Amino acid sequence: MDISVKTTSAPSQRSACLVVGIFDRRKLTNTAMELDSATNGYLSSILQQGDMDGKAGQTLLLHAVEAISAQRILLVGCGKEKEFTKRQYKKAIAAAVKSLKEYNIRDAVFYLPDLITKDLKHAQRIKLAAETIHHGYYQFTQLKSKNGTPKVTLQKAVLNVADERHLAQARLAVAMGNAVALGVNTACDLGNLPGNICTPSYLASTAQKNAKRYPDMKVKVLKQKDMDELKMGALLSVAKGSRQPPRLIVIEYNGGKKDDRPVALVGKGITFDSGGISIKPSASMDEMKFDMCGAASVLGTMVTIGELKLPINVVGIVPSCENMPDGAANKPGDIVTSMSGQTIEVLNTDAEGRLILCDALTYSEQFKPKAVIDIATLTGACVVALGKHPCGLLSNDQTLAQNLLDAGERSNDRAWQLPLWDDYQDQLKSNFADMANIGGPQAGTITAACFLSRFTEKLKWAHLDIAGVAWESGHNKGATGRPVPLLSQYLFDQCGKKYQFK
Ligand code: BES
Ligand code: MN
Ligand code: ZN
Repeated sequence: MDISVKTTSAPSQRSACLVVGIFDRRKLTNTAMELDSATNGYLSSILQQGDMDGKAGQTLLLHAVEAISAQRILLVGCGKEKEFTKRQYKKAIAAAVKSLKEYNIRDAVFYLPDLITKDLKHAQRIKLAAETIHHGYYQFTQLKSKNGTPKVTLQKAVLNVADERHLAQARLAVAMGNAVALGVNTACDLGNLPGNICTPSYLASTAQKNAKRYPDMKVKVLKQKDMDELKMGALLSVAKGSRQPPRLIVIEYNGGKKDDRPVALVGKGITFDSGGISIKPSASMDEMKFDMCGAASVLGTMVTIGELKLPINVVGIVPSCENMPDGAANKPGDIVTSMSGQTIEVLNTDAEGRLILCDALTYSEQFKPKAVIDIATLTGACVVALGKHPCGLLSNDQTLAQNLLDAGERSNDRAWQLPLWDDYQDQLKSNFADMANIGGPQAGTITAACFLSRFTEKLKWAHLDIAGVAWESGHNKGATGRPVPLLSQYLFDQCGKKYQFK
């Protein structure tokens, strides 16, 4: 799908469909007014008849409107003008996409980005529109046989830019939106693939394949022998219960100056989490194929920055293996030695994410990163605490935490901070090793982060627990691609003024 920006005149614009906003109640937006006067009040007469009030989410498709060059006009309810925030704006775009899909319309011009939102600048609206449109058309069809659902797609979307002076910035914004959408789709595809296809080696070869598209990106894949040499005893202890060999994928992107310190992104890549010997209940266990969504978000974000050739250095690190029960698997009570030298009593083999992440975090030290962010579907407790709206954020550096919170707000992919207080560290006491891998029933998300904090003392580090946001369950089951928008926004913010629409 091709999404671009342009300054157009609505009445004379040729297109299969013009997408135009109406506010509640029956209030024409500027473009709607232009079309109304070009058609001798046709739009207002339709509103007067009561066919459309402008309530949020409402849509009405008009055909063959006289004196208009486009074939159709899609009126989209935007809710009350006073309440028109980025959330309403996104909803309006999503409602428009739903209609365009229903009627299988192949090209459209969107006038919605011209509508003023208090909490989002023009360029950010362009970026969000591109992301929302791409996401609305996302379909995971690669594993349906030929007779499966036909792919509905929009071939071309134009985002109107009312004020020509905004065009230059809008071009960059749409490129950013397109790149974020490609990153999100990359993450969704990987997340949706089942465990028998998306194995650790599959993740590694996908990272290699993706990197070939970007000259500043190179990938190194560590195998079991390499990890043995590095003494990654925690990571390898999880891997040994599976027939799938583990991988540690290292993606280096050098778009910045040679000695700029990189940002490191570390993504949990458990391609299936059965729980191991502490096996999970069977209901919904299929969803544990999504336990590599942290890894997927790292691969996705690398695609985004590669597309945009961002002038920064970033290193993506993905520890990947399966967590399975087996004669060789970790047993409750086993004690393993991590790469850092600290010993860990594995009281629950289902707390495996932290075991693979701790070694990957220690490994990240060699890159002297200016910040390390790990992304992991780490705890069910996070879903209990925060539900499915924000991801959990814990950090040993408040500036980094605040930057991530801000990036989440602006990219509509929010995080919420939980405390990483020392008070919780006691819960990890072990009688036999330096620490246990679980902290008991209370504050499970925080004690998981406390565990990781013992491996990041030399680093400026933040942890994103994405257990609640990485995928949807039930009727709409599928990966969401989160938090690629948040991570990309954080990295845009590292690139200086040009990429910040403030
Ligand atoms: N991958 C799971 C976390 C998870 C569970 C994410 C459900 C989303 C939905 C993780 O490896 C895990 O099993 N965590 C345990 C930790 C516990 C044993 C301390 C959990 O949350 O139950
Ligand atoms: Mn687990
Ligand atoms: Zn897990």
